[in-house]
Formats: sequence, structure tokens, C-alpha cells
Amino acid sequence: MTRRKGIVLAGGSGSRLHPLTLATSKQVMPVYDKPMVFYPISVLMLAGIRELLVISTPEDLPNFRRLLGNGSQFGVEFSYAEQPRPEGLAQAFIIGAEFLRGSPAALVLGDNLFYGHDLTDTLAAANADTDNASIFGYEVADPEAYGVVEFDAEGRAISLEEKPANPKSHFAIPGLYFYPGDVCERAAVLKPSPRGELEITDLNRTYLDSANLRVQKLGRGTAWLDTGTHDSLLEAAEFVRTIQHRQGLRIACLEEIGLEMGFLSEEQFAKSAERLGKSTYGAYLRSVLERRQREKSSK
Ligand code: G1P
Repeated sequence: MTRRKGIVLAGGSGSRLHPLTLATSKQVMPVYDKPMVFYPISVLMLAGIRELLVISTPEDLPNFRRLLGNGSQFGVEFSYAEQPRPEGLAQAFIIGAEFLRGSPAALVLGDNLFYGHDLTDTLAAANADTDNASIFGYEVADPEAYGVVEFDAEGRAISLEEKPANPKSHFAIPGLYFYPGDVCERAAVLKPSPRGELEITDLNRTYLDSANLRVQKLGRGTAWLDTGTHDSLLEAAEFVRTIQHRQGLRIACLEEIGLEMGFLSEEQFAKSAERLGKSTYGAYLRSVLERRQREKSSK
């Protein structure tokens, strides 16, 4: 089986967050103690994906390269590509065709945060199915701001609409999508929508039409957070801070996930921790290793 590859789409002008985003891209801004893009990357890593393409604007891409490098500090491999103009999410599969080379893919939006108890199992299941596309449904108060999925009485998806004025359900489609190896071919024949974009919802509809779409509901125990406004950005940071303080564990700590997933050896992990010096994040990494070694020696 060809291994699934991941795309992180971190383009856009972030105009809703101006003036914060006048000089920097939204997805490198902090959500409490780490850059926003760490959170969606953690989701792909937890799904078992190690080859990732980061797509951003020509102006912002150098920042992502500086931040993420080649990925070896997390035990993954990053490639980079430019999206010159924001012409839609589905364009990721035109820009990313050469990177994917026909392998199954996962796309995550660089500003989407997920957190939840069953998430790792849900991701593993979506990753394992390479014949169908998998997307998710999450109940929100304001579905008109998102792609919306409608279910029939048996819970089967029957329609998909992008930002409908009159939504047929309260289930929004989060920015996390799993596709089979034919995704680039399907993206290549999409037509731009009235707003001039290659819509991810149109791409997903091709899988609904060919009966290859699985839509899994993310339950109440999962948090899917938005970071599109000043309020939601602060709320996401407060959410992360609250949980981290309570548990003493960090969310979306990419070095720790690399270690847990077996992408990094303990020696490599120790080097990554060293690199982060005196920050509390670096101290946390050192404590993760100490705890792991203590647990091993007490067995
Ligand atoms: C995009 C998609 C939408 C999806 C949302 C998730 O919208 O077009 O279908 O529900 O991301 O964050 P955007 O908010 O980028 O306009």
C-alpha cells in the first residue's frame, strides 16, 4: 500500500485578523505557547503521516521554512510549495500533485484546531481506508459560516453545501479531509465557483456522487476550534492553557508526538529538546523523556 501523504494549507491573507496579520501570516501566530500551525500538523502526525507538504503564499513561505525546517526535529519530512493567489482549498491538489504522485492524501487547514478523547482512533480509521474519501461533521451554532453536510434518517450523508444561506443541518465540515490516490485527477477537472475558487466542497461532492464518501460525526467530546477572529483566537489559547495547566501535558507538542509515534528515537528527541533551550516548552520536553525513562526502569 502506498503511504498516505499530508498537505497543510496555510495560505490566505488573514484579513479578518488585521492588523495582527499585516506583517506575518496567521498560521504562525501563537495559540498560547506554540505557533498555530503546530495544531493541525499534530493531527496529521497522529494519523501516522510523516511526509508533509506545507503550502503558503510566496511572502509567507520563508517564515514556515524557518519555523519548521526539514522536519527532522519532529521525525517527519516537510516539503514546501507556493500558492501565489488564494484560488480555493481544492487548488492544494493541483499545487501538490507532484508531491503526492498518486498516493492517498490528507489535507488539513493551517488554522484548524482539534482536540479530543477519541480523535486518535478516528484519525487512524480514516487513514486506513484508502478506497474512500473521509470527511467529518461537527455540530456548530453557526453552520452558514462553513461547508455543511446533511444526513438522512439512517445517518448517511445526502448533500454538501458551501456556506449556505439556509443550512440544511447544523453539521459543519471541519478543515480535515482524507482522500484516495485519485484526488489530484478529480481536482484537475473542477471548475471555479461563482466566487472564483476551486471549492473543497465541490471536490467532496464528486466523492458523494460516486458513493465514495464517508462522513464521520465528531461527537460532543471533541473540540474543533476556530481561530478566524480576535475572539476565537484568544478563546482557543485559553482552551489550550486551561487543559495544559490542569493535566501538566501539552497539546500538539510535535516533538512528543514524534517520540510517541516512533518517528523519533529517544536520542533524537533529546537533541530536539536541547534545541529549545531554556523555554518552558524545552523543559517540558526534557520532563517527558525523564518520565519515560523512569517508567521503563520501573518495569
Ligand atoms: C473553509 C471551507 C469550508 C470549511 C472551513 C473549515 O472555509 O471552504 O467548507 O467548513 O474551511 O474551517 P473558510 O473558512 O476557509 O472560508
